[in-house]
Amino acid sequence: MKLIIVSNRVTVPNRKSQSAGGLAVALNDVLAKRRGMWFGWSGRIGPEQQEATLSTHGDVTYALCDLSEDDYAEYYSGFANRALWPLLHYRLDLTEFARKDLNGYRRVNGYFADLLLPHIAPDDVIWIHDYHLIPLAEALRARGVSNRIGYFQHIPWPSVDVFLALPNHAEIAHALTACDLVGFQTRRDAANFGDYLVTEAHATTQDHVSYTVGSNTLQVGVYPVGIDRAGFARAAVRASRSRFVRDVEESFSGRLMLLGVDRLDYSKGLTQRLDAFQRLLETYPGYLDKVTFLQITPRSRADIPEYAAMQRALGETAGRINGLYGKASWTPIRYINRTHTRAELAGLYRLAKVGLVTPLRDGMNLVAKEFVAAQDPADPGVLVLSRFAGAATVLKGALLVNPYDLDGTAKAIDQALKMPLEERINRWTTMWAGVGETDISQWGGRFLGDLENPGAGQTIVLPS
Ligand code: G6P
Repeated sequence: MKLIIVSNRVTVPNRKSQSAGGLAVALNDVLAKRRGMWFGWSGRIGPEQQEATLSTHGDVTYALCDLSEDDYAEYYSGFANRALWPLLHYRLDLTEFARKDLNGYRRVNGYFADLLLPHIAPDDVIWIHDYHLIPLAEALRARGVSNRIGYFQHIPWPSVDVFLALPNHAEIAHALTACDLVGFQTRRDAANFGDYLVTEAHATTQDHVSYTVGSNTLQVGVYPVGIDRAGFARAAVRASRSRFVRDVEESFSGRLMLLGVDRLDYSKGLTQRLDAFQRLLETYPGYLDKVTFLQITPRSRADIPEYAAMQRALGETAGRINGLYGKASWTPIRYINRTHTRAELAGLYRLAKVGLVTPLRDGMNLVAKEFVAAQDPADPGVLVLSRFAGAATVLKGALLVNPYDLDGTAKAIDQALKMPLEERINRWTTMWAGVGETDISQWGGRFLGDLENPGAGQTIVLPS
């Protein structure tokens, strides 16, 4: 029996994986523990294939396929990232629905199913990841696959009214009922999906865990993604002695560091964060020349118009604020689009006085957890965290903010900068425990335990 993981992007271990996200590392660990296969897009554009290209690393087989130009445009840039991504992040204003993109989305899910089919043995367990592949389980069932199939949604699932705005909402939601287990990051996401099933798909449920829709019965559970807390903490200690971190520290010349690390995405609330920083400087001028805000923002999905527009807007905003408040010897905002390795980031988190994680909406947000794990327990930094990030359900010691409220966010940053050591330690201790409760070492096992042994009752219920 093997585990088959399917996701749009696949992280094949190599030198580049130093900058791969913690989740990719964790999935490779889950696979390495079982004999497994990871199937998905190679990241390349090319003609559609008759069979997946295989390679092996240790006990893990990677099965990759290219996408054609049309597949990439319609499935990835189109339906997944211009319809589902904004809608599932509550951004109806940015949702672009095109029938052609939907067809491409269906087609690529069928293509994945065709290429995966020959690799599925009767007792294999299949675990599908994220919104690119919502129809995949149904496409596999249509090809006669009766294996256990799980799906995990890494990003939010919105309330029923928002989801109803998707023209083909019934088809998309119904496709997930072909799974045996559907997992979400938070109780709210799972409840939103369950509400949809009951109110729109006529599902029946006794316990809000097991749902029956027509002839399909599925379980719905909550599995907040985490990080390797101990490993990340060690990496941060190591990195803090590195040349790179010492150089950055020196360049701050004793000024306090505010730090943000995010993919360039409108869900991350970056414009609002820069505006809140400006509000801080306006409202509390004592911070002029005393703090520097380092915002690290690798570019992402740059050929999608909404992302390109955002990239321009952010550069302008950072430039405007620097122009207004900066002086020859001090730049208030260092706005950087480079990618950094995980080790470098770990060291920077440890150096920062305040971590700013203020998405407008986020499934979980692992930067928040990594920031906590990286701190020096004797002198920890403070996390300013959006209440709309899934991480807010587990990181009770953070200063929670509404990222739309610039005055409130500026006030929280001020509170963080002034916070006495004892309160910082207390808050950090609570958060450290929260990060530990959802350690990544248990995440895969819990999901797969529930997938393989339904009713064993391992579904995580978050503390309220
Ligand atoms: C989010 C999604 C992932 C996605 C990642 C990077 O974290 O949940 O599924 O892989 O963003 O986005 P990209 O479009 O570059 O794969």
